[in-house]
Amino acid sequence: MELYEGLLTRRSIRKYNPDKTLSKDEILSLIKAASYAPSAHNKQPWHFLVLQDKEVLRTLRLIQPWTSFAKDAACVVVVCADTEETFNRPKEGWNYAEIDGALAAENLLLACHAKGLGACFCGAAPMPLVIENLRKKFNMPETMLPVAIVVIGYPDEEPKQPEDRLNLDKVHWGSF
Ligand SMILES: Cc1cc2nc3c(=O)[nH]c(=O)nc-3n(C[C@H](O)[C@H](O)[C@H](O)COP(=O)(O)O)c2cc1C
Repeated sequence: MELYEGLLTRRSIRKYNPDKTLSKDEILSLIKAASYAPSAHNKQPWHFLVLQDKEVLRTLRLIQPWTSFAKDAACVVVVCADTEETFNRPKEGWNYAEIDGALAAENLLLACHAKGLGACFCGAAPMPLVIENLRKKFNMPETMLPVAIVVIGYPDEEPKQPEDRLNLDKVHWGSF
């Protein structure tokens, strides 16, 4: 698939064929693409938590309520970024973990689309309870920020393509 076409045709997929699985190599090739995302100072602070256990997928909604469709997924990849590995200035109270993690997650979504898989970005950070519960359940260190719960599976729906999303009211040439 040509990249520009892929950017325009990627859609969130929330219905999957529950019988199909992904091999470890297939999952690693998706994570490889995620790892080529840009990151501040090229710190590559991401960590990827791969979940495949059916019971874990089914109960993920107890941690993040808008992930109930993960029950039929082939896997979920929780994209995290380490707040100490990322480019940061703790004394000034900022770090790039959320941004770096989100960029890796978008690459992951696009890699899924390129390979004919369906995926959906589900939020984690900045929701404090979701962050806390993910850390607790999956033994994440306190420095680990879960940024996206990316649900991945074999598509069982053909999403409608939206109207043209280029909104000229939101394009500001030279100044607002
Ligand atoms: C930060 C963020 C959080 C999201 N959280 C959820 C979620 O919890 N559950 C869900 O089904 N979709 C979630 N989405 C997906 C959006 O609903 C989806 O991207 C949006 O409706 C546009 O549709 P598209 O991805 O098909 O272009 C999230 C997307 C983003 C960027």
